[in-house]
Amino acid sequence: MSEVRPKPRASIPLPNSRTTESEQVDVRIPIPGPKARPIIEEDTRLLMTGTKTSPVAAASARGVWITDVDGNRILDFTSGVGVVNTGHCHPDIVRAVQAQAAKLMHFAGTDYYYESQNRLAARLTEITPGKHDKKVFFTNSGTESVEAALKIAKWNRQRPIVVGLLGGFHGRSMGALTMTASKPSQRRRFDAFAGGGHHIPAPYCYRCPYQLEYPSCDVYCAKILKELYFETSIPPEDVAAFIAEPVLGEGGYIVPPKGWHQAIKTILDEHGILFIDDEVQAGIGRTGKWFAVEHHGIIPDIVATAKALGGGLPIGAIVFRKELDYTYPGAHSNTFGGNLVSVASALATLDVIEREKLIGAARDRGAHLMARLRELAETNPEIGDVRGLGLMVATEFVEADKARSPAVAFRDRVIDSAVKHGLLVLPCGKSAIRYIPPLVITDAEIDQGIEVLDQAIRAARAG
Ligand SMILES: Cc1ncc(COP(=O)(O)O)c(C=O)c1O
Repeated sequence: MSEVRPKPRASIPLPNSRTTESEQVDVRIPIPGPKARPIIEEDTRLLMTGTKTSPVAAASARGVWITDVDGNRILDFTSGVGVVNTGHCHPDIVRAVQAQAAKLMHFAGTDYYYESQNRLAARLTEITPGKHDKKVFFTNSGTESVEAALKIAKWNRQRPIVVGLLGGFHGRSMGALTMTASKPSQRRRFDAFAGGGHHIPAPYCYRCPYQLEYPSCDVYCAKILKELYFETSIPPEDVAAFIAEPVLGEGGYIVPPKGWHQAIKTILDEHGILFIDDEVQAGIGRTGKWFAVEHHGIIPDIVATAKALGGGLPIGAIVFRKELDYTYPGAHSNTFGGNLVSVASALATLDVIEREKLIGAARDRGAHLMARLRELAETNPEIGDVRGLGLMVATEFVEADKARSPAVAFRDRVIDSAVKHGLLVLPCGKSAIRYIPPLVITDAEIDQGIEVLDQAIRAARAG
């Protein structure tokens, strides 16, 4: 491997004095550095082709800061792909995990009993929308939560079809894949096995599939379910559930317009169809509510959660109307769901969110981030749209043509350049970048991120 010589630091001047020297973006060695490269090469040799995004190899992390194996300090605007809403390695969560690991790590919560999973289940029934009686099933991931939601809905309703949104993402296991439709790569060669899913166009106002304008459209994108699909290709009496993300995540951070959820729910209620709310990416305080569907004013029948619930450890859950429960054992279960260490981590995570008022912080920091991105959009015409809820925000990059064609290559160059300058961001949709820092981020840290992003956009423009 060629020797990589340290370059001058790419530290970003600080716009706000609240940030201390030790909290600055600091790229001492071009990313990936000499220690990162062999890790990346070995990974490429050994690990299945997945969804790698940037050549960053982490050594440690705290709060919103990642230190890579070459000593670079990188600002994390991804929260570990939507997981560490409470920041990396929050000390209270680390302590809870360590204490539980030393006491009892695993006792198969689906087969036996322990108090802490009851406590977490009770907390989840309290913080999910609706005052009705609820029950909980613990999983190990978002995909498994969706899988469990689809199964209980189909079992309960004894109907084979679930309807979702084009652009929706719900995981890649065979069951979850029936509802995932955000990129052709997800379904290629699998489509024939991913049956029982139907999709309607997403409520994507920036690129309305019907070329209508909100609000004069009268949310036609919801009404079409009844007026067209239920009249032609989808028999409503065969539909067990409708699944939607409250903000489409992988599909491009698309926020459904006001009234869309109510219009859909009214149609579903006419036919006894359950509403599955996939909060895997948007939930656990990220949008300024515990669950993002609260912004839309409907009560889902099943909530699927995961990612940020565990504060960094794998755990997911479905929270569902009590009457949907299985009437005999064995129809569904698992081994690791409700693992003791993950449950301890989740309970500590929910405590931290409450104690540190991180839901309010998501709203306040989100408003700041959105305002700063809108400023950037004024001087950078490639930013066609800035959208989101709370700290779940994205910019869509477009070409300078009338059709606002997606600027995919440009977006990719912005991400590459941002990472090289010490800001980790993720793509979403066709040509968008999402900004989802931990909810513990400060305005000063957001400003640093914006500085780097501004540089990255200029670098992308230069080619
Ligand atoms: C909305 C949504 N549902 C489900 C999943 C799948 O979750 P996991 O990757 O934890 O299996 C994701 C992952 O990004 C997601 O964003």
